[in-house]
Amino acid sequence: MSTYLVTGASRGLGLELARQLQARGDHVIGAVRDPAGADALRATGARIEPLVVDDPASVAALGARLADTPIDVLVNSAGVGGLGRGLPDLTAEELHRYFAVNAVGPVLVTQAVLPSLRAGRLRRVAHLTSLMGSIADNTSGAAYAYRGSKAALNMLNKSMALELGREGFVCVVLNPGWVQTDMGGPHAPTPVADSVRGLLAIVDSLTPERNGRFFHFDGRELPW
Ligand SMILES: NC(=O)c1ccc[n+]([C@@H]2O[C@H](COP(=O)([O-])OP(=O)(O)OC[C@H]3O[C@@H](n4cnc5c(N)ncnc54)[C@H](OP(=O)(O)O)[C@@H]3O)[C@@H](O)[C@H]2O)c1
Repeated sequence: MSTYLVTGASRGLGLELARQLQARGDHVIGAVRDPAGADALRATGARIEPLVVDDPASVAALGARLADTPIDVLVNSAGVGGLGRGLPDLTAEELHRYFAVNAVGPVLVTQAVLPSLRAGRLRRVAHLTSLMGSIADNTSGAAYAYRGSKAALNMLNKSMALELGREGFVCVVLNPGWVQTDMGGPHAPTPVADSVRGLLAIVDSLTPERNGRFFHFDGRELPW
């Protein structure tokens, strides 16, 4: 049994990660914005912790509450999505909000629980990124805030992987595919359970050679 900290565990991929991990006998600490509204997460048996990833005080408080709790794997799933505005209408507020949640948040969460991760047995960090964060794959443009924030997350993970890799950590960015969640919408081709089964197969297979890499949920490596 391993202990997983999963952010964004109220719904979507984070909730399904909690479901599958709890069902196979692992222990999940599910971090959510609104614990009172987290009935679906509560039903999995997970421990519930409050967390607003774009509020540094909330992130630091989570780290303090978990200071004596070893964590084997951190999965940063919390995120905001959407195409957003085109260049003429793009605002600083939109850019800042996406970067705060999708790029700054995962780094600060990892930083806050680093002592707990160091005390764990596996030292694995997985960030849910997107193929839309791939510069090489961007052939259609748009989604400035979302694409930019996920490209930033990819780069931040690379530096984290190089720094923490020296102490045996494996840090990766994972693309869940286009998934049937609130973010992906009903026309997405991939059921959330299938995406999460693939994501967990990758997380389970993380070895030092995979540190710093970018994987699709089916195991393929993706272009930066
Ligand atoms: N679904 C897809 O097709 C797809 C594709 C590529 C990448 N991804 C990535 O996969 C991850 C999960 O996506 P999803 O489809 O599960 O999204 P989702 O269904 O929209 O759920 C988003 C989750 O993030 C949480 N969240 C949002 N802002 C937060 C904040 N400021 N602080 C704390 N929690 C916050 C939400 O909490 P509340 O319930 O409180 O709002 C919710 O739990 C995201 O990082 C997303 O970018 C998804």
